[in-house]
Amino acid sequence: TASIDRLFLTGSQQVRLVNGIDHCAGRVEISYNGTWGTVCDDSWDLSDASIICKQLRCGHAISAPVSAHYGQGSGQIWLDELKCSGTESTLSECPSPGWGQHNCGHHEDAGVLCSESEQIRLVNGADRCAGRVEIHYNDTWGTVCDDSWDTSDANVVCKELGCGRALNAPGSAHYGQGSGQIWLDDVSCSGSESYLRNCSSRGWGQHNCGHGEDAGVLCSGSKQIRLVNGGNPCSGRVEIHYNGTWGTVCDDSWDTSDANVVCQELGCGHAISAPGSAHYGQGSGQIWLDDVSCSGSESYLRNCSSRGWGQHNCGHGEDAGVLCSGSKQIRLVNGADRCAGRVEVYNDGTWGTVCDDYWDLVASNVVCKQLGCGQILNAPGSAHYGEGSGQIWLDNVKCSGTESYIWECSFSRWGENNCGHSEDAGVLCSGSKQVRLVNGADRCSGRVEIHYSGTWGTVCDNSWALSAANVVCKELGCGHAISAPGLAHYGKGSGQIWLDEVSCSGNESYLRDCSSRGWGQHNCGHSKDAGVFCSGSREIRLVNGADRCSGRVEIHYSGAWGTVCDDSWNTSDANVVCQELECGHAIDAPASAYYGQGSGQIWLDDVSCSGSESYLRDCSSRGWGQ
Ligand SMILES: *[C@@H]1O[C@H](CO)[C@@H](O)[C@H](O)[C@H]1NC(C)=O
Ligand SMILES: *[C@@H]1O[C@H](CO)[C@@H](O)[C@H](O)[C@H]1NC(C)=O
Ligand SMILES: *[C@@H]1O[C@H](CO)[C@@H](O)[C@H](O)[C@H]1NC(C)=O
Ligand SMILES: *[C@@H]1O[C@H](CO)[C@@H](O)[C@H](O)[C@H]1NC(C)=O
Ligand SMILES: *[C@@H]1O[C@H](CO)[C@@H](O)[C@H](O)[C@H]1NC(C)=O
Ligand SMILES: *[C@@H]1O[C@H](CO)[C@@H](O)[C@H](O)[C@H]1NC(C)=O
Ligand SMILES: *[C@@H]1O[C@H](CO)[C@@H](O)[C@H](O)[C@H]1NC(C)=O
Repeated sequence: TASIDRLFLTGSQQVRLVNGIDHCAGRVEISYNGTWGTVCDDSWDLSDASIICKQLRCGHAISAPVSAHYGQGSGQIWLDELKCSGTESTLSECPSPGWGQHNCGHHEDAGVLCSESEQIRLVNGADRCAGRVEIHYNDTWGTVCDDSWDTSDANVVCKELGCGRALNAPGSAHYGQGSGQIWLDDVSCSGSESYLRNCSSRGWGQHNCGHGEDAGVLCSGSKQIRLVNGGNPCSGRVEIHYNGTWGTVCDDSWDTSDANVVCQELGCGHAISAPGSAHYGQGSGQIWLDDVSCSGSESYLRNCSSRGWGQHNCGHGEDAGVLCSGSKQIRLVNGADRCAGRVEVYNDGTWGTVCDDYWDLVASNVVCKQLGCGQILNAPGSAHYGEGSGQIWLDNVKCSGTESYIWECSFSRWGENNCGHSEDAGVLCSGSKQVRLVNGADRCSGRVEIHYSGTWGTVCDNSWALSAANVVCKELGCGHAISAPGLAHYGKGSGQIWLDEVSCSGNESYLRDCSSRGWGQHNCGHSKDAGVFCSGSREIRLVNGADRCSGRVEIHYSGAWGTVCDDSWNTSDANVVCQELECGHAIDAPASAYYGQGSGQIWLDDVSCSGSESYLRDCSSRGWGQ
């Protein structure tokens, strides 16, 4: 992992702006020697600040505020007395007394405001390109009054935000009323301004308005439609924004020509399918459209014919969905769980594999990250997890390590490859559980099964001991081992017997790191399958009560849940149960099937606990099943 961390470092930013409106304004912090620290404001000026704006791709410096304008940092003060010429590409190239050399306190922390910092925002619309106009001045967000507000003013806002051109410039608090400052009134832009603050107006804070007159903007770059719950922006339940609210679309007469308009509007290619019946889950609130019928020439779903906004005879069980060709997904196939296996990528409506040419730890770590599966442990090629079929989508994949999605890495074109499926790439991420306990009360007790080479198999009980069981419990996040039963205590498995003569020193993180005869080497039958009972297992439960802390006592033994007879049952016994379940102490020990009759096994009778037992099973009784 050390080498992976280094790889990520080279791609990461060494400077950041903290506590501003966005990443282009704030207190300067710089990373050196693995530690973030601040910069002192002695001789801090625009040419120093401009280096940072450039480095962060935030345009040019507008101001270089001093005296901890963006709040005081803490810890290291890395640089002082910087004398940048303005041509350097990083602060560390500027003349200065050196790292950590300063005579400052954090009340002198330097700041930067870059030109790309968004001093304006649109609030309460479908996205950042529609909504109530708010402008940042004197460290405070405020609104704009709608007096003489029109599309040429709105255009400047859309341009400033990189949101295209203005489609609409609604007034009268169309996007809801703001609060606090009203910064601008009687705004009049010529159209050539780059920023709204450059347009003529009465002046900051000068107005005769209330928030009922707040100005709004709808820019062409605003997506008034979205796909929800499909796992990516190009598939999901259709939701459309109208009158300040997201709502759904009913599936009556919904088909792929309608779905096509949605895919095109979202830049997601063409429609592959148009599932109805809330295929992507039910939405809530408004149902905006019904009986939608697109001719195919529309650019926006809202332009298709329908019953009209909010006119419908539907419920959310009829919510319409879309799967577009631009939908991309990833999955791991044939491993122990979703965090290990053959890499498969979904593109253009088809699952396909990834070729192992150039496949390395950096590329495969992007997959682990993308799936939320932790870090890469292993990146096997050569169809280690079996051969896929059909498309081979990606070949020659090369990642820098900073990508969020595998398809952001460089690769030959989609589907272009010189590979066969015998070269399918695989991934084993740290989040994968390669071991499981079967047939116990819960996931923390049972027959040990380990995943290897695409198959689950058992472990033989020769020299099986508490030290090995402990490694399993730790690996599963189940506490420590209480016992390590052999002889198929939790029933016989079937198929492969993967390990025999397992011996763990106790410091291993995974069972597979313990010594053994080798994968598949054994002289055992399944009657010798090894088991584990971890401290995290609850082999006891309360059924039919108000919650997990009251109910009929049931105990798990030999692969089955059974009940406890009430003969001589009293609160001393019930106390042990409450403690075992971390439910406090016993208030009552009701008998006579107070919580309903169980069925099947009656495991214990004449139970008598002394009070010192940690588990009900340790109390004296007639014996299991007696
Ligand atoms: C860099 O870090 C190392 C270890 O954390 C430390 O010993 C060293 O003094 C640091 N250097 C500076 C300039 O702070
Ligand atoms: C800017 O803020 C300061 C302090 O919050 C205040 O004293 C000053 O009047 C404000 N200026 C304007 C134009 O609102
Ligand atoms: C626009 O305003 C900024 C500061 O807010 C100023 O630096 C710039 O010169 C102005 N540009 C024009 C064309 O007025
Ligand atoms: C739009 O919203 C306003 C206020 O929230 C409401 O009075 C009006 O009925 C809504 N229009 C539609 C078509 O839902
Ligand atoms: C589509 O709808 C918008 C308003 O949502 C309207 O301005 C535009 O003219 C419509 N286009 C067509 C082709 O109907
Ligand atoms: C585990 O402990 C053994 C000695 O008991 C040692 O040789 C081995 O290096 C340790 N392994 C790890 C991963 O710490
Ligand atoms: C429960 O019963 C046992 C005998 O089976 C007895 O020793 C104990 O005192 C009883 N506890 C209570 C709280 O009645």
